[in-house]
Amino acid sequence: MMKLYEITFSPTGGTKKVADMIMDRFRWESSFIDLTDRFTDFSTYAFDKEDVCIVAVPSYGGRIPAIVGERLRQMKGNHAKAVPVTVYGNRAYDDTMLELNDTLIEAGFCPVAAIAAVAEHSIMRQFGAGRPDEEDRRELVDFTDKIKRGIQNGSLTETPHVPGNRPYRSFDGVPMKPRSGKNCTKCGLCAEKCPVGAIPTDMPMSTDHSKCITCMRCIAVCPQKNRSISKVLAAAGAQKLKKACKERKRNELFI
Ligand SMILES: Cc1cc2nc3c(=O)[nH]c(=O)nc-3n(C[C@H](O)[C@H](O)[C@H](O)COP(=O)(O)O)c2cc1C
Repeated sequence: MMKLYEITFSPTGGTKKVADMIMDRFRWESSFIDLTDRFTDFSTYAFDKEDVCIVAVPSYGGRIPAIVGERLRQMKGNHAKAVPVTVYGNRAYDDTMLELNDTLIEAGFCPVAAIAAVAEHSIMRQFGAGRPDEEDRRELVDFTDKIKRGIQNGSLTETPHVPGNRPYRSFDGVPMKPRSGKNCTKCGLCAEKCPVGAIPTDMPMSTDHSKCITCMRCIAVCPQKNRSISKVLAAAGAQKLKKACKERKRNELFI
């Protein structure tokens, strides 16, 4: 029997918002697999040819976050249908969609449609502010209806052509790493929720810069609002991206 899965990497919730708009419209019972959870053994997931997997991932420097690639490749797609969903912060997604598509194929999935959607930029929230909004939701509903129909009538079988180039553009991360202020209560929530284990549980005031991917989750989950990135570096980054992020970017369906 066919099962529907939502497989999402969403450190600060923007990707999840997009994925939920899609999942709500499917109106099928579904299971959620959290790609940010570093305590999950992803190799235990083996899918079935009949399954449909919505795989939602943010664009980091025009690529998929490296940890997402590692975790997806541990799963066994077994020819399950997949819908790669690339979520980006109103700049551009460059090679993200192609890399996500390639990674899913490598893991044994069959991508049958793809979606690109905009959410607030998780580092510089002024870009894509308020998105996905009502207009985005309407578009995502329309995309989902088309995908659902295609799956139900059996017409969605081929992997669509998606934009991007190989070799993928290089991305070595951003130089800003979240740091702790003076109000840490050592509750350990940031350490627990960090997707890559960059915050030591016994010393949550520190950040392992070699592991940190600047996903901003620690800042988002801290109950004390104690963690932050350098305002100076963020302002400089925003200045650089301002032009590229100015106009409202579109959501896209590839089918
Ligand atoms: C390290 C990093 C790199 C990013 N690079 C890009 C980018 O190249 N293009 C873009 O449009 N948005 C970029 N973004 C914004 C995210 O793709 C976007 O905010 C996404 O919704 C974040 O997902 P989340 O809210 O689920 O954490 C980047 C965000 C981070 C944290």
